[in-house]
Amino acid sequence: FSDFLTDTFSRQHDYLRISVTERCNLRCLYCMPEEGIELSPSERLLTSPEIVYLSSLFVSQGVTKIRLTGGEPTVRKDIVQLMQDIGDLRRHGLRELCLTTNGISLHRKLDRMVEAGLTGVNLSLDTLDPFQFQIMTRRKGFDAVMKSIDRILEMNKLGAGIKLKINCVVMRGLNDREILPFVELGREKAVEVRFIEYMPFDGNKWSQGKMFSYQEMLAVIREKYPALEKVVDHKNDTSKTYRVPGFQGRVGFITSMTHNFCGTCNRLRITSDGNLKVCLFGNAEVSLRDIVRKENQGQPIDEDTLHRLGLLDSVQSAARLSDEGHSIPERERELLDIIGM
Ligand code: GTP
Ligand code: 5AD
Ligand code: SF4
Repeated sequence: FSDFLTDTFSRQHDYLRISVTERCNLRCLYCMPEEGIELSPSERLLTSPEIVYLSSLFVSQGVTKIRLTGGEPTVRKDIVQLMQDIGDLRRHGLRELCLTTNGISLHRKLDRMVEAGLTGVNLSLDTLDPFQFQIMTRRKGFDAVMKSIDRILEMNKLGAGIKLKINCVVMRGLNDREILPFVELGREKAVEVRFIEYMPFDGNKWSQGKMFSYQEMLAVIREKYPALEKVVDHKNDTSKTYRVPGFQGRVGFITSMTHNFCGTCNRLRITSDGNLKVCLFGNAEVSLRDIVRKENQGQPIDEDTLHRLGLLDSVQSAARLSDEGHSIPERERELLDIIGM
């Protein structure tokens, strides 16, 4: 395993998340204002060859899992081609190629994506009620999302093996009544539903009152399903997993607000404008775009040149910066302060 992907906490960063667009076709209350967000000028965004190039570089250094995120990754016009090109890295050690999506237009592209190497879909869905969907996302589209879920399950019956997780952000007074219906989705369907604690981001009008905590969610589920039991989590999971005996699916919790999981986080992040971030919360960013553009001009760069350009050093220093900028206990304190605990 390459040293440069190991940080000073001995976390091996073998999982890369790449944001392929800032744009989105929904306006979820907890994420974006109605008018959308200010978009970066296009010349600052990574081109597809640059994304593929950076992916191949990270895979050559030991990354085995790549997740494409956004905004909404499927609104990128060439998303299928991009996945084909990244999927080709399976020959060089890539084992998982995943997508985090709202599912609005996934059903139209899914078959081609699976052919390209897609192995996992994390699908955001906060309600099972079409009317509530329109309130929470400020857009129509519930049926399209259900169509995507059905298509994934259908393809899985034919052996596609797509790992499906549903992400559900719980907001008090909005969708907290739907915790049990979401758990019950797993009675017949082999899906993992992950409840996410609502997190504050710039401008998302977060308030503690609207946050519904992990403990509260557990209490709601246990009241009806006292047999709910813990399942052993994978080493680098950010969620805590449970199951109701007899159900096909599982239930997970992403407890970003009440239980910090930084110590096991193995994710590296590349923003759509080409900055590398080691932590979701950390501000330490290094521009990979500038380094790659300086010399690349369409030609692949060998590892020696990369060293000379300082790209690998930059990655390493970002990992160190994140440790300094965000020591694990400090971040935990900060989050607990935010929620007043
Ligand atoms: P897998 O573990 O591969 O299924 O992906 P994931 O859960 O990391 O990714 P996904 O895009 O589905 O994100 C789910 C939630 O986890 C989102 O709310 C993210 O903001 C949150 N998340 C992802 N990584 C981190 C992290 O390092 N720290 C915190 N606090 N939240 C994270
Ligand atoms: N709090 C918690 N989760 C959020 N997501 C987006 N904004 C927030 C927030 N403020 C979730 C989305 C998606 C995942 C990548 O992040 O629902 O599933
Ligand atoms: Fe944000 Fe995802 Fe909702 Fe789009 S679908 S507004 S990116 S949470």
